[in-house]
Amino acid sequence: MYLDAAKELLEFIEKSPTCFHAVETMRNILIKNGFIELYENEKWQIICGGNYFVCRNDSSLIAFSVPDSKHLLNGFRIIASHSDSPSFKIKENPEIIVENKYTKLNVERYGGMLCAPWFDRPLSVAGRIIIKKNGNFQSKLVNIDRDLLMIPNLAIHMNRDANSGYSYNAQKDLLPLYGDISAKDTFFHQVAKAACVEETEILGHDLFLYNRQKGSVWGASNEFISSGRLDDLQCAYASLRGFLNGNKTDYFALHCVFDNEEVGSQTKQGAASTFLYDILTRICSALEMTSEDYLISLAKSFMISADNAHAVHPNYAEKTDPVNRPYLNEGIVIKYNANQKYCTDGISAAMFKDICHAADVPYQTFTNRSDMPGGSTLGNISNTQVALNTVDIGLPQLAMHSPYETAGVKDTEYLVKAATEFFR
Ligand code: CO
Repeated sequence: MYLDAAKELLEFIEKSPTCFHAVETMRNILIKNGFIELYENEKWQIICGGNYFVCRNDSSLIAFSVPDSKHLLNGFRIIASHSDSPSFKIKENPEIIVENKYTKLNVERYGGMLCAPWFDRPLSVAGRIIIKKNGNFQSKLVNIDRDLLMIPNLAIHMNRDANSGYSYNAQKDLLPLYGDISAKDTFFHQVAKAACVEETEILGHDLFLYNRQKGSVWGASNEFISSGRLDDLQCAYASLRGFLNGNKTDYFALHCVFDNEEVGSQTKQGAASTFLYDILTRICSALEMTSEDYLISLAKSFMISADNAHAVHPNYAEKTDPVNRPYLNEGIVIKYNANQKYCTDGISAAMFKDICHAADVPYQTFTNRSDMPGGSTLGNISNTQVALNTVDIGLPQLAMHSPYETAGVKDTEYLVKAATEFFR
């Protein structure tokens, strides 16, 4: 039922205020489903028919299922999405005191967000801290699970231009208020308390702001959902569900979720890194497949790069291509770009449509207007490390990169079904 899938998605997102939490949420789901965690710094023992996953930096994850021994050369079936979303990162020494009355926090932008919707709403802080225990560095998740911060707007009386297009200055306009003067020197105490450590133990941190507003199903017939981080946790969640549904005995099945898509993917755990290549080649060597076996397998492989797409906007219908016009609740969007910002070509489009037909799932098409550059995603970047037939798809949404995005209530279920068919 599509409403169940939508509500489960909203629960998944609520548990995942940052990329680190998204990976932890997936890790828990995978362990519950019998998957075994492998570590990159240990030797791997893997067997045919086994189910495994690997995390890198606690912010990217690759889960995989090994086929039976007769099918080791049937190639890799991969769905890739991303764990990160635009937000504000807490800087070092974040507290700024204003006129001995206010304590605000120094933050910087992570990714290309819409700034305006971050104002005048309760925010909080989540991420990870690093401590040292018995000579080892340990990463601990932290979420200060209460309304803690706000970025107050300047009153219209003091900024008459506020409604005629305003250019936000990241160092001036976008710093969140944390408390009055009594909050001075308490921020990391709050963080430590939420992580159940002493403040002095915190050696490092990767902390982000997040919107406190919970996900919602709404509209005249409850046809819409809204939440933070639909881009791209909607695809990450739906592809994980499909991955777990599939029986995956005839080929290698992989569920990949990469961090840092919003800042260009060029990190050790991003889609531009060797993460996927490293995992595929280690799987092959653990199963005593040769390097030629790996290349033969790649040539038989297929990747679905799943990252959300722009639906036609009710107030800006002219912003979409005149013909290829995705709408909410009308199915999975296949994304095309002549300059190959999206990997889809005639072959991969045909293969993906075939999957949709078999799954009885509607699909639609997206291209940017020919006079607009549009965005990019992770498929073409990942192909520079591991080259294989790839299609770029996504679920239709509005307000991409707002801290509260909107999508269709039915589309999550469509991607679960298509992913299930892909991994069948
Ligand atoms: Co995205």
